[in-house]
Amino acid sequence: MRKPIIAGNWKLHNTIPEALDLVEALKKGLANQTRVDVIVAPVFTALAAVADATSGTGIAVAAQNCYPEASGAFTGEVSPALLRGVGCKYVIIGHSERRQLFHESDEFINKKIKAVIAGGLAAILCVGETLEQRDSGAMMEILHDQVRKGLAGLTAVDMQQVVIAYEPVWAIGTGKTASADQAEEVHSFLRGTLAGIFDKSTSEQTRIIYGGSVKPDNIDGLMERADIDGALVGGASMKAADFLRLIHFQQPE
Ligand code: PGA
Repeated sequence: MRKPIIAGNWKLHNTIPEALDLVEALKKGLANQTRVDVIVAPVFTALAAVADATSGTGIAVAAQNCYPEASGAFTGEVSPALLRGVGCKYVIIGHSERRQLFHESDEFINKKIKAVIAGGLAAILCVGETLEQRDSGAMMEILHDQVRKGLAGLTAVDMQQVVIAYEPVWAIGTGKTASADQAEEVHSFLRGTLAGIFDKSTSEQTRIIYGGSVKPDNIDGLMERADIDGALVGGASMKAADFLRLIHFQQPE
């Protein structure tokens, strides 16, 4: 059984005090839940404070990016070891905003994933197609390529430290969620892709989460699907009540 993940990507939002307020509200609302792996991804400057505030709770902390080298003349960059040192457990890699705005290639993303795993952290590899790619009929080929290149050189053991996030670019921050059918179609395809690259048991153990306008009113339907193991959430993760509702999917109070 794959344990569900509900992860909040706060992007470039929330000062340290705002992040800590949000975390306090989450802690109150979560009590001792263990059904779901809950992750929050604050900005770099809030990571240490949020990791301290969530230590010993069921909330894990993710960074939103990293650099693949451990140290050196790389002005402005942060290594996986430094992220681990402040209490991070995960790093989001290859988010579509980084691919599009910062021109990250699959090869660069692959280097980062290897560095994250070598640094003792888990990587959340984001893949997703644009609307143009979906309409062109090349969507599955593009997703297959993103997964294959992103995970190149990894072993089945490495995959224990990898989560895949399917995030259709056209659904991010737009209010247009993929329907549960559309998402499941891709998740099941991605699971097949993992079986092809690695083996069936690795594909069955890897968590594949969905992202793109996940909200309290669509989470339950998404989570019903066999291959959807959770959600990577932007907008709705910054309102405590909404994020708690997502974590309590199919079991609202
Ligand atoms: P959204 O963002 O939930 O605001 O669409 C998702 C993401 O970018 O991870």
